[in-house]
Amino acid sequence: RKSIDHILRGGWHLLTLINEVLDITRIEAGHMDLSPEPVLVSQVCQETLALIEPLATERGIRLAGGVGEECGWHVVADQQRLKQVLLNLLSNAVKYNNAGGGVTLSCEKVGGGQLRVGVRDSGPGIAPDKLARLFTPFERLGAEATGVEGTGLGLALSKRLVEAMRGTIGVDSTVGEGSTFWVEFPLADGPLAGLGRVEEEAPSLAARHGAARTVLYIEDNLSNLSLVEHLLEQRPGIALLTAMQGGFGLHIARERQPDLILLDLNLPDMAGAEVLRLLRDDPRTSVIPVVVISADATPGRIERLLAAGATAYATKPLEVRRFLAILDEALGEGERV
Ligand SMILES: Nc1ncnc2c1ncn2[C@@H]1O[C@H](COP(=O)(O)OP(=O)(O)O)[C@@H](O)[C@H]1O
Ligand SMILES: [Mg+2]
Repeated sequence: RKSIDHILRGGWHLLTLINEVLDITRIEAGHMDLSPEPVLVSQVCQETLALIEPLATERGIRLAGGVGEECGWHVVADQQRLKQVLLNLLSNAVKYNNAGGGVTLSCEKVGGGQLRVGVRDSGPGIAPDKLARLFTPFERLGAEATGVEGTGLGLALSKRLVEAMRGTIGVDSTVGEGSTFWVEFPLADGPLAGLGRVEEEAPSLAARHGAARTVLYIEDNLSNLSLVEHLLEQRPGIALLTAMQGGFGLHIARERQPDLILLDLNLPDMAGAEVLRLLRDDPRTSVIPVVVISADATPGRIERLLAAGATAYATKPLEVRRFLAILDEALGEGERV
């Protein structure tokens, strides 16, 4: 049993190592797919804290912060990659900590319209002469001799990811007290800011006839979900279902057979393009129109998605009129767009 655990854990590490090397290579070759959009920081904090919780519990480390108003701001970042970075910082803060120690996640507005997200630990701290080497690939600063598992790539990758998203990363540390690793990203407006008046839109056919239609939105970004929820208030005849993961979205699509599916391309568990393929391949969902909503709208990408069976493509940030027109068209009741 113990040796199987050991092998499994070794395999897991090898996989992490390979993924991290691939990510770094992709960034350096300029091939990293990033989709920066307004991200609700408290959502990312809560999701990453939940992921790190088992490790913290196993090591007897208390987790705190990251909830409530303090982190209720939006920043411009790629949601998945921001999660990956915070997960790296949190796992370090837990791994390199003292028995019975604590880790605190906090948010703070700093100058220049930036939000700083900090991960503070009560660990041993890092000596000043080591700080410069922290972000070097494969550099473990002596941790390899302590039995704490790692690849020495987490911080190197985090720095590249943060910088690719136009953020900054840094650390303040005092030996004997602990370290605070932080990242800063530009603040963004929330999803409902600057929406303007949409109340004057004529009610759609569905609303006029009181016909109930169902739209499924597969999206992990809460800002976008609340924006679409808000826009759909203009269409009282439409019931909105949501799924924050591709797998769950596929399940709901099969069970509920919605009249229309809105699909984000950057989902936590699988690529949106894969969700589209599975929807098209399944007779239960193959004819449901799918509107892809995404920030990375290169013409090549749009063409590929349309060829793969998407009905239409809407780019973020969503333009209200165009979005409602696409919606009506896809539900079969508008002018062509
Ligand atoms: N919060 C921290 N407190 C003390 N040392 C840290 C902390 N985070 C990282 N380190 C040191 O920096 C090294 C590099 O970190 P990282 O790139 O995440 O690699 P890994 O965790 O896989 O060793 C670690 O091996 C450790 O020595
Ligand atoms: Mg690490």
